[in-house]
Amino acid sequence: MKKIAILTSGGDSQGMNICINAFANTCKSHGIIPIGIRRGYQGLIENDMIFLDDTVIKNIQGLGGSVLKVSRSEEFRTNSGLEKAARNLNKNGIDALVVIGGNGSIAGSINLLKYGIKVIAIPGTIDNDLYYTDRSLGFDTAVNNAVKAIDDMMQTMDANNRGMIVTVMGRNCGDIALYSAVGSMASAMGARELGTTIEEIVSDVKVCLDAGDTSPLVILSENLEYTAKDVEKAIRRNLKIDTRATELGYIQRGGSPSIFDRMYGMNMGIWAVELLQEGVYNVALGMKNNEMVYVPLESCLNIPRPFEVELYNKLKKMHNQK
Ligand code: F6P
Repeated sequence: MKKIAILTSGGDSQGMNICINAFANTCKSHGIIPIGIRRGYQGLIENDMIFLDDTVIKNIQGLGGSVLKVSRSEEFRTNSGLEKAARNLNKNGIDALVVIGGNGSIAGSINLLKYGIKVIAIPGTIDNDLYYTDRSLGFDTAVNNAVKAIDDMMQTMDANNRGMIVTVMGRNCGDIALYSAVGSMASAMGARELGTTIEEIVSDVKVCLDAGDTSPLVILSENLEYTAKDVEKAIRRNLKIDTRATELGYIQRGGSPSIFDRMYGMNMGIWAVELLQEGVYNVALGMKNNEMVYVPLESCLNIPRPFEVELYNKLKKMHNQK
């Protein structure tokens, strides 16, 4: 391998930058030229590439976002976009491509295989919705950010004897909601995987109120069939407690990566280059039972990971809910 490129795609996630740094430094130590592609697949289509020298990669380990920037490219979903992308990789003499992104980005990288491009995918999304791996880069930081914000907000809810309903990110995956709910010992939570109804939420909140709680907390994942406002109305109607609804938003996706995400990003950046050097490619990197693993890229999106219902049950038991 003489030249390897890296891009970040989809929603950015914390830990992408340290991964880019580790990738570039490992390339250099193997005498490989590290190339950064800006703005994800859209930049690849537009041949927007830079050499990853120290001016780009130095002191970025503590930054959220991506120094290479990201995009959600519509053009890359078309055959002509894919052809342009493959042509630019070949034209620039790039031997392999490392993609950091979520499931849309990894699906895009699979489409490049038919053009003979060698790919390594790194799971980068706060959503944790890549089921072949226990963890995706950014999830740990996002949950920590969410729990910190919730702790802070609950202080003012507590002072006012108010309940709070917080909607967190995660697209269609309830992992951020589950971990935030457990970390903040929420009275109730709603996630698609659990099929939680508003009635169940009201009933769980009632158990907490009956036990003397004056500021119940409800965590909802996004994209449910009902909104936080619907839950707020139901709680007010049935339980006569004042509540406030908050959408947590991008505080979850920004900010300094946790030590977990720094180590994970660094290890995957290093490993991607080492694997390519050993002739291993067309795989997706990840983590299973705290071990770094790789799985075939083409099938990685078909591997299921069940929702952690036991964790949810533990949360319920903490409040003696059934
Ligand atoms: O995939 C990460 C994520 O933050 C999701 O949790 C959220 O639904 C989505 O991206 C928001 O995307 P955008 O910032 O492009 O609107």
